Amino acid sequence: MGSAIEASGVSRGDIFLTTKVWLEHYGEGPTRASVEDSLRKLKTDYLDLCLLHQPFGDAFGAWRDLVELYEEGVVKAIGVSNFYADRLVEFCAFNEVKPMVNQMETHPLNQQVDLMEWERKYDVQPEAWAPFGEGRGGLFHNPVLTEIAERHGKSTAQVMLRWNIQRGVVVIPKSVHRERMEQNIDVFDFTLDDTDMAAIAGLDTKTSSFFSHSDPKMVEWFAQMVEERKTQHDSSKEKKNW
Ligand SMILES: NC(=O)c1ccc[n+]([C@@H]2O[C@H](COP(=O)([O-])OP(=O)(O)OC[C@H]3O[C@@H](n4cnc5c(N)ncnc54)[C@H](OP(=O)(O)O)[C@@H]3O)[C@@H](O)[C@H]2O)c1
Repeated sequence: MGSAIEASGVSRGDIFLTTKVWLEHYGEGPTRASVEDSLRKLKTDYLDLCLLHQPFGDAFGAWRDLVELYEEGVVKAIGVSNFYADRLVEFCAFNEVKPMVNQMETHPLNQQVDLMEWERKYDVQPEAWAPFGEGRGGLFHNPVLTEIAERHGKSTAQVMLRWNIQRGVVVIPKSVHRERMEQNIDVFDFTLDDTDMAAIAGLDTKTSSFFSHSDPKMVEWFAQMVEERKTQHDSSKEKKNW
């Protein structure tokens, strides 16, 4: 990413750059080191936004490092990702500097209406990862979205993005195709009316299209992954020393 930004010729001030901290770098000290490593790789001296990727492990220690980096001006905004309402409220209630953003899976099949109420209460900006649900559940061909899209002369992808933007959710769609990237940014010349918004609200299943972060088996899976990565890291360090 650092090399791509450099090669693009776009000035740094015109780019909004976000990165996240992964679990094995959580805690006071390791989180600062991880952000510094990201800055080096991204070839920049500041981040626009930095998030704690998951709500597990020493997230409080990691948060203290992020707060310091925020106060030093190295990171312009700090937040979290995948924090369900209970963890988000805990974080807001027990930290002086509260998360400014919560990046969550949010798309028409999993709308996060309850979570958004808590985010509103604590002034946390919702941001949608997988705003198309990565196409799972046939979202690009959903009949409700297709009907709305045809009426507005837009694609179902554009309707999904517009719907979230009108709800006050920041969207970060991913595409490797230029024409789709152009399409995904061309969503500011139409408006969904109340009937459209209500029809899309009716698609909510209140269920993740991926997995639940409150499933104990998934928490164990994350813990095991961190252990494995630490072991890999230690053995590669040993090899280097040898
Ligand atoms: N915080 C987290 O835990 C977390 C988890 C997952 C993802 N994310 C982030 O969320 C962002 C996006 O999420 P995502 O990639 O998971 O899902 P997504 O944006 O919902 O879906 C991406 C998929 O949609 C396709 N697509 C994009 N634009 C399209 C269009 N206009 N028409 C038809 N198909 C289109 C892409 O295909 P092509 O690329 O082939 O065009 C790709 O297969 C990424 O920045 C990712 O890093 C964060």
